This record gives sequence, C-alpha cells and structure tokens, in this order.
Amino acid sequence: MSYLVLARKWRPQRFSEVVGQEIIIKTLSRALSSGRIAHAFLFTGSRGVGKTTLARLLAKAFTCEKSISPEPCGTCTHCESIGSGQSADIIEIDGASNTGVDDVRALREQIRYLPVSARFKIFIIDEVHMLSTNAFNALLKTLEEPPEHVKFIFATTEAHKIPVTILSRCQRYDFKRIKVSVIIDRLKVVLAEENIQVDPEALLLIAQNADGGMRDALSLLDQVISFSGNNASLQDVIDILGLIDRRIVSRITQAILEGNSKQVLEFVEEVSNLGYDTKQLLDEIGLEIRNLCLSAATGSIAGLADLTEERVQAINELAAQHELLDLQRLLDISLKASNQLSASEHPRFVLELALLKMVERPKLHQISEIQKAIQKLESMGQGTSATIITKTEPVSKNTWKHFVSAMASSMPMISHHLEHGRYNGKGKVEFDQKLHFSRIQAAAQSKDFQEHCKQHLGLVPEVTLSESIHVAQQTVIKQEQQSIEEKARNNPAVKQALSVLGGEIKAVRKA
Ligand SMILES: Nc1ncnc2c1ncn2[C@@H]1O[C@H](COP(=O)(O)OP(=O)(O)O)[C@@H](O)[C@H]1O
Ligand SMILES: [Mg+2]
Ligand SMILES: [Zn+2]
Repeated sequence: MSYLVLARKWRPQRFSEVVGQEIIIKTLSRALSSGRIAHAFLFTGSRGVGKTTLARLLAKAFTCEKSISPEPCGTCTHCESIGSGQSADIIEIDGASNTGVDDVRALREQIRYLPVSARFKIFIIDEVHMLSTNAFNALLKTLEEPPEHVKFIFATTEAHKIPVTILSRCQRYDFKRIKVSVIIDRLKVVLAEENIQVDPEALLLIAQNADGGMRDALSLLDQVISFSGNNASLQDVIDILGLIDRRIVSRITQAILEGNSKQVLEFVEEVSNLGYDTKQLLDEIGLEIRNLCLSAATGSIAGLADLTEERVQAINELAAQHELLDLQRLLDISLKASNQLSASEHPRFVLELALLKMVERPKLHQISEIQKAIQKLESMGQGTSATIITKTEPVSKNTWKHFVSAMASSMPMISHHLEHGRYNGKGKVEFDQKLHFSRIQAAAQSKDFQEHCKQHLGLVPEVTLSESIHVAQQTVIKQEQQSIEEKARNNPAVKQALSVLGGEIKAVRKA
C-alpha cells in the first residue's frame, strides 16, 4: 500500500472532526438544519485551516441522499463519491489553472446542465481570486440569477482580490488560524491512531511552527516521522526541521535582560553549533521581546498571542520584572538588526553586535524601586535628612537654570546675582549671601523682572535669605556638616538608595 501523507489521510470526514473553526461550523450547521441556505459561499483564510475540507463537507451535506443536514450519512452513494472525489455533480475547479476563455465557456455550459443524480450541482472553486476578469463576469451572470439546482463554494487565501460584485453575492466565512493547543490535541489524536510516539516537547515545537495551519503541522510531523520512525524526540525535530527550540530563545532573552553579555555570547555559540539560522534566531528573540512588551503594556499576554498556557505564564512573570520602556528599546534594536541582517554578508556579526547592544542598553531604573528607596530614606528620619542629587538633575534646578540663562540676555545686570539663588520649584528662591539677596529683592519690584518670571517660572517667586551666617559660626557648622555627611554616607538606607539610583551624594544638608 502506498504511503498517504498524514494531511490527506486525516482530512476530516465529518463536521465534528474539524477543529478550531467552531463559529463557522455552528453557523453552517444551523443553516443546514433550518433549510435556509445561500446559493454562494465564500471561504477565506490562510492555508491549511480547513477551507477545502469544509467545502467538501458542505457539498456532502447538500447532496446526502438521506436529507440536507449537518450530519450527512457518509455511506450513501453521494457521500461516498464525494469522499473519493468521484462525484459527477460536485465539480472542483482550481482557479489558478482554469482562467482561459475555453475554461469560462466550459464553466458556463456546465452550470446550465442539471445535476446528473444529486440534489444540486455544486461548484467548488479553489483559489477563486486567480480567475480572469472574463471568468468572473461569467460567474457574475449566474450569481445574479442563480438556477435552483446550482450551489457555489468559493475558497481563497486572498479575499481582497475578489471583485466586490462577486463578494456582495456570497455568504462569507472567515477561517481562523488554529490555536497551538488545538493543533497539539489534533496531532495527538492522529499519533495515537497511527501508533507513533512523539516527545511532547517536539509536538509543541511543531505546533508552534505551523503558524496556525493544520496542514503545515501535519506536514512537519510527516517529515519528522519519515526520518526518525515511530519514535521522535525533540532533538530529531530540531535536526530535521531546523526549528528553533523556544527555550534557548528564552534563555538568551533572560541573559539580555540580566545584562549578562558573556552568557548571551555563549548561547549564540551553542545555537550556531546546532546549525540554526542566524536571522531566524534573531527574529525569534524579537518575537519573545515583543510578547514581553505586550504583557508589560497590558498586564498579561493572554489572548494577545497564540501561546501555550505555560508560556503565557512565563512571559507574564518575566515582563512584570521589567519596564515597558526598557523592553521597547530592546525590541527596537532587534527590529533594526533584523533588517540589516538580511543584507549583510556577516550575519553572525550583526547578530552578536545587536545582542551586545541590547545587553549594554542604557540602564533604566524601575520607578517602583526608586519609590521604595525614597520611602526608606524618609522613614529614617532622626533629624537628619540627606538630599541625594542623582546624575539627572531635578526639574526645579533645570527650570531655574533656563531662567537664569534667559535673563543673561534680557537683564544682564542682575543675572549674575540670580546664579546664586536656589529655586525650590514651588515659588521660593533662597540666597545665602545678603549681597545677591538684596539685589534680586530690589529687582523683583520691577514689572519687567516680574514679567520674565511669569514667562519662565509661571509665577513671581518669593525671594528669601537663608539665616544669616557669621564667620565664627561657619567653622562650627562646617564640622557639624562633615560629621553629618559621614553619618549619611554610612547609613545603610542611603547606601542602598545610591546603588539603586546609581547617583552620587553631592550635598548633605541639615534639615
Ligand atoms: N480545521 C481543521 N481541522 C482538522 N484538520 C484540518 C483542519 N484544517 C486543515 N486540516 C488538515 O489539513 C489538511 C488540508 O486542509 P484544507 O482544508 O485543504 O486546507 P485549506 O484551508 O488550505 O483549504 C486537511 O486534509 C486536514 O488534514
Ligand atoms: Mg484548499
Ligand atoms: Zn449520505
């Protein structure tokens, strides 16, 4: 007996065997039981999701000798002849190879004849978008005034290429890509019947790489079985199909997120020894990061991508530990590199460079960590408060800086004094020296000055002088200051804050 490929051998023979297209089956079944049936159907969707299969099942349902029903008997002459593709009244036409004038004429002729023995003459036209304009025109005439005895079932992967005049006369059904878990379940049924063992991890890898197409999944399985016999391992699948093990992708992504460049490069070495394709690897990493982004942005990847439950959980957990902005940067780097890689003569270098860029990306601190550190600082109290000025300067300081530099050109006489002020960002500017204080206090009376303030600061600030400082006191204060600084530096909360924020202590002030 010749070997029948799994995809053909396992074409569903009844509606209940078709998986992943529940809504379509339900709608069709309801129409068949109620008897309110359209005369033209359009099945659209990507390849290998069940369009031809359902077209034939529908034809069976129309012509079964028992009755028109969603449960054709499967044993009458009509049911049998459809199963074996030999029915005289079911005409399957390949749109891709029947586009000539003669074909159109033949089609018209055929439509005119009554069915030989079945209830209807049924035309299944696959890849209908490939038909010529002539052919469409011929069809259109029939669709406008359909003879009672004719039914059309069109199938296409590219619905947008079908003329609107045709579309508007069909009942349209959009087929979905099939979920990974659903594909796995179906593959398990097939394997059990075929008495073949395949490692669950290998099945997962196959199902993930089928991109929602059952035919692709079955063909991949076929290839694996024909090489490795009745017992296929994960490594077999990797070797035979060149599919990338998602766990390696996850490990590389983790190492990137942890900033471990050595490990990243080691994984790349490992992966290339396995014979993986460089671009494929980079794209898989990009996909993983994209999933993390989606999860970080929405809280969970569930429902946003076709993933197994285990992966959904793993991705959500990992995403929760990282900032969306950080993940977006990674995605950006990987997308750019992916474009470069196709054109490059040194794909491995491009890959490594991209991964290193990802590892070395500018560090972002989690807001939550910063908040925690600040809370801890606040709670230490004890009369001492440390002002930690991190490398990014506070907004108030920047605002004041801009104001001072703007004033340098508009009011040059006083701008020098302004430089000595400390702005708190909330309408108060403080000076330590009386000279600067009094000049600015005087200037603040002028309309001109006030206008500039409003323009740059949004208000006219209160000008204050910090408690006057005598020379004698200064020495004491200096000593005190030093001991406070010492204390602050050694304080565990401050140390932790510094390590989290990555800043440095610029000033310690007594509260
Ligand atoms: N929804 C499905 N349920 C079960 N098997 C399916 C399904 N879709 C496709 N298959 C499998 O893939 C093969 C090809 O499917 P087919 O209906 O020809 O796909 P297409 O959508 O490209 O017309 C079928 O013979 C069957 O083995
Ligand atoms: Mg098809
Ligand atoms: Zn029947």
